[in-house]
Amino acid sequence: MILVTGGTGYVGAQVVLQLLAHGQTVVIFDNLCNSSRASLERIARLGGRRARFVLGDVRNRAQLDALFADFPIAAVIHCAGLKAVGESVREPLRYYDSNVGGSIALCQAMAAAGVFTLIFSSSATVYGDCATMPIDETCATGLPTNPYGFSKLMAENVMISLAASDARWSVGLLRYFNPIGAHESGELGEAPAQVPNNLLPYLLQVASGRRDVLQVFGNDYATPDGTGVRDYVHVMDLAEGHWRALQALLGGSGVRVWNLGTGRGYSVLEVVDAFTRTCGVPIALTFEPRRTGDVAQCWADPGKARRELGWQARRSLDDMLRDAWRWECRLAAEHRPIVYTTETSPTIPVAAAQAASGYAAV
Ligand code: NAD
Ligand code: UD1
Repeated sequence: MILVTGGTGYVGAQVVLQLLAHGQTVVIFDNLCNSSRASLERIARLGGRRARFVLGDVRNRAQLDALFADFPIAAVIHCAGLKAVGESVREPLRYYDSNVGGSIALCQAMAAAGVFTLIFSSSATVYGDCATMPIDETCATGLPTNPYGFSKLMAENVMISLAASDARWSVGLLRYFNPIGAHESGELGEAPAQVPNNLLPYLLQVASGRRDVLQVFGNDYATPDGTGVRDYVHVMDLAEGHWRALQALLGGSGVRVWNLGTGRGYSVLEVVDAFTRTCGVPIALTFEPRRTGDVAQCWADPGKARRELGWQARRSLDDMLRDAWRWECRLAAEHRPIVYTTETSPTIPVAAAQAASGYAAV
């Protein structure tokens, strides 16, 4: 059985589906601070089987010890954590507590239970502002620009030290580039409870009429069109990377690091254009000053994952955008309650959005 912490969240839920598709039994451990039990039903529908679920917090050793006592866990995929950069600046202690403290408590509970295979959801943010592209795993980790980034780097270092101290540990640090998209059925994806921080969730909410305009942060970068360039990777491809990594880690020893990206960067304007072309919805945008902490460009050299794991992202940017839009239309059709934290109009032109996407709600 595989434990997936944060398994009802955006990435974790896709990882759980991958594991179920490969015949694994799965237990999810999540405190639901940024997800809901609705994910469990979606996973069961898409996976054809249920994952077990335990409500709990990775900072709570007693809950973790009970979890390892109750289930025959062979390996852990640790996706639980907080990920909003702006919030991490305002509430650094909460971020260090969850992302570093939670990782330490988890490692302690694993060691106590004799479980030593661990995959960690890390981020390309640990590379900081890298001078050369593409970024491979030999690039030095940089100086993160916010507490979220520091918390990811600190958690990585905890795991690196741990594995150096005890050869029973087999740890995979998966450095995600920019996961976007949704399950290709359109039935499982990201459902931000707050104002989205990231490009694609924000763009989708503009497309569905929940927000008025996309603010493009900076058009004076040294990139082909002046806007920031990122390596967007389909969340289903990303999830497949976890399965491959797990195979490589089981029975191994030490720490291994893999970038999970496509190796291709797209600018903000390229993403907007691709969305309009693929999904048929124009996006209103304004150019704003650069966002503090942003780097001009960031894309992966995914060669190590290809060579060592046989993993390669297969889905195109158009696939990512189409799947994400299908999911956004599904959410709108289900009349998801929306938390409005800005002055934007609460109208959701569901029919218009669906017509534009060619998607029919069931
Ligand atoms: P998410 O917020 O959708 O999922 C995280 C899950 O963890 C949520 O279900 C949340 O309820 C749970 N959680 C948070 N704190 C917890 C705690 N203390 N105890 C138990 N459960 C807790 O985020 P995501 O996009 O799925 O990200 C998953 C992981 O990947 C995170 O660690 C994130 O930092 C990392 N990551 C994400 C991205 C991205 O763009 N999505 C990029 C790089 C790295
Ligand atoms: C951000 C975080 C990073 C985190 C990642 C995944 C920052 C500085 N970095 O990465 O630590 O790991 O999310 O959670 O926040 N953009 C706009 N308008 C928007 C939103 C984004 O123009 O409304 C631009 C950004 O300036 C950037 C690109 O879109 O050029 C991608 O932004 P985003 O999706 O937030 O990802 P990252 O900045 O790469």
